[in-house]
Amino acid sequence: MGKALETKELVKWYGKEVLALNKVTFDIDAGDFFVIVGPSGCGKSTLLKIIAGILDYDSGKLYINGVDMKGVPSYKRDVSMMLEMYALFPHMNVFDNVAFGLRMLGKDKSEIEKEVKEALRLVGLAGLEKRMPLELSGGQRQRVALARALVINPSVLLLDEPLSHVDYRLQRKLMEDLKEIHRKVGNTFILTTHVQEHALSLADTVMVMNTGVIEQIGKPEEVYTTPATVFAARFVGEINLFSAQIKSWDGGLCYLTTDIGELKANPKNKNTLPSSGKVAYAIRPEYVKIGEEARLCDNKTEAKLVSYYYFGHYMEYVFEAIGNTKIKVSVPTEKVGNLTLGSTYLLGWSAKDVLLIERPCMIEGLNIEEVIYGK
Ligand SMILES: Nc1ncnc2c1ncn2[C@@H]1O[C@H](COP(=O)(O)OP(=O)(O)OP(=O)(O)O)[C@@H](O)[C@H]1O
Ligand SMILES: [Mg+2]
Repeated sequence: MGKALETKELVKWYGKEVLALNKVTFDIDAGDFFVIVGPSGCGKSTLLKIIAGILDYDSGKLYINGVDMKGVPSYKRDVSMMLEMYALFPHMNVFDNVAFGLRMLGKDKSEIEKEVKEALRLVGLAGLEKRMPLELSGGQRQRVALARALVINPSVLLLDEPLSHVDYRLQRKLMEDLKEIHRKVGNTFILTTHVQEHALSLADTVMVMNTGVIEQIGKPEEVYTTPATVFAARFVGEINLFSAQIKSWDGGLCYLTTDIGELKANPKNKNTLPSSGKVAYAIRPEYVKIGEEARLCDNKTEAKLVSYYYFGHYMEYVFEAIGNTKIKVSVPTEKVGNLTLGSTYLLGWSAKDVLLIERPCMIEGLNIEEVIYGK
């Protein structure tokens, strides 16, 4: 499969103060649904704008479909971008908003008519051609912006936070639509979000970013089950993290001293881990057992129930163990027992479900404690 996009050590400074992209190197297969996820300010929009050609970079390389993009103006790139905050032209109706790019390309009237109709049908807005942006709901405006980007039929479609500013139901609908449209058109999609659930459920490939650097790239389930850094583990899904020191190894089993006492781990990545030293000890909330079930586990600790959150299909309990260390436990709703706030319970988990992560994050100078507890 060819590469839709390749970057090599891309660097972008805003003035002398902000290093927005710090030697960013990655590539994207043609036809991939590639999702960039990371906290606010990590450089997602900057990266998309550079790919779109509306912002220049300071050094490094950017190739789209194998062609070096240095000096290539935006309109000559085979990309289109749906901007964050979907800036529609307020004085133009839906049809004209979507047709705008095609007119700029000098297409003839009948072609424009046909392509705009098709784009509006794809996003589920057929029949609303005459409406003005102010006569549309937020979600409909989002779809017009999507149609406007899609209609160009670019080989790379850039979507900057297309799911923000709409309610939950509409987000779900837009996510389904985006997946479906991607399947139909087969172009490369690059989407940014700061919402981990969106990244996990939309992406063929996820890239986790942190202040101008890449923390990890992989399939959603890879990033979830084998996070490369503590930052990636924290950012993709809920996770319990304890600062830990490796004491010894016995075959595949690792013995550690942690914030909540002596614990064991039998991690999948054992071959890559050191024989001693500091690591993060990580266990996802869905693997922690409570009460009777915990008795059989090879890791156990007592902890007090301090709060709980109902999420419909599951309940998340928050416990406090030794040293006020919080432990989150998620239980499918149908398995929820009768727990009392303020009471102490036995928690347990299996050594094979533990992840040990050696690297705090890809930014030099931060240690494990800072990434676990500091931010
Ligand atoms: N025009 C600008 N001038 C100076 N600094 C900027 C400019 N645009 C962005 N920045 C800074 O560059 C960094 C990256 O910004 P960017 O907009 O790419 O982040 P983001 O990941 O898209 O964030 P968000 O999730 O909030 O949209 C931030 O520190 C931001 O403050
Ligand atoms: Mg942004």
